[in-house]
Amino acid sequence: MNILRKLALSASVIALGCTSAMAADLTVGFSQIGSESGWRAAETSVTKQEAEKRGITLKFADAQQKQENQIKALRGFIAQGVDAILVAPVVATGWEDVLTEAKEANIPVILLDRGVDAPQDLYLTSVASDQVKEGRVAGEWLVKTVGDRPCKVVELQGTVGSTPAINRKKGFEEALAGHANITIARSQTGDFTRAKGKEVMEGFIKAENGGKDICAMYAHNDDMAVGGIQAIKDAGLKPGTDILVASIDAVPDIFAAMVAGEANATVELTPNMAGPAFDALDAFLKDGKAPEKFIITESKLYTPADNPQGEYDNRKGLGY
Ligand code: AHR
Repeated sequence: MNILRKLALSASVIALGCTSAMAADLTVGFSQIGSESGWRAAETSVTKQEAEKRGITLKFADAQQKQENQIKALRGFIAQGVDAILVAPVVATGWEDVLTEAKEANIPVILLDRGVDAPQDLYLTSVASDQVKEGRVAGEWLVKTVGDRPCKVVELQGTVGSTPAINRKKGFEEALAGHANITIARSQTGDFTRAKGKEVMEGFIKAENGGKDICAMYAHNDDMAVGGIQAIKDAGLKPGTDILVASIDAVPDIFAAMVAGEANATVELTPNMAGPAFDALDAFLKDGKAPEKFIITESKLYTPADNPQGEYDNRKGLGY
């Protein structure tokens, strides 16, 4: 967006008396990773709802988990001259060229839910959780729950090279530091999917005395945890009791598992990244003021003590 276009847009926003809930005539491209998890599906539908609420035309591109598809989509959005781009980057590296192209075309880019290894001046802002904190919250819960007992943990990691996989591992390890009784015995990627989570957990169970040596399963998202819970049940063990289950996202299915006594802790990740992103974009277009570089969403811990049935019911209708 060049300065004349931005001024024209600002003028029309003022003339129309639009509020932040009504961005005038904006076309925004959204490159979504895919649909690997319930959380991702909810983020997609919330983004569409938030755009509609504001009268924004959203051009949606599903990258089917491939960075090359995301880069193609971004180049397509640039060629079409969209007013802004939202991107949920599947992995952290490899973005510099295309972000530079967007910058040269004066199209602001907003990162949603994951980060990139690229200079910060190549994007307007990033709306995401503190992913290190998410891992730390899950780890602190485990430390508190296990006390002095020896505890072998198995870890289901997210997509290799993605910031949530890197940071949720880091935060969890930070929480465990100094607690020599708790060790991460095995750690492997389950790519944030239910099917892979189940498959990887089956392997861990086989390798750990039919699962009898495992004290806790830590999954970087709830979908992998739900897959892992199935593997634990298939092995004749009780998830939530024989093997503690901690994960991240707070999707309805993990609350259903808590109600059934099969999950012990989850850290909430809001699927509403687009609301704060559109608000930041709106303010930027109105007065040209750059938003905070990092807009951080909350990371709240939920356990079976937090009315899991109510939390399940609250999340209905969000597109999970
Ligand atoms: O980047 C956020 C993560 O990506 C969510 O925790 C996970 O469910 C998704 O696939």
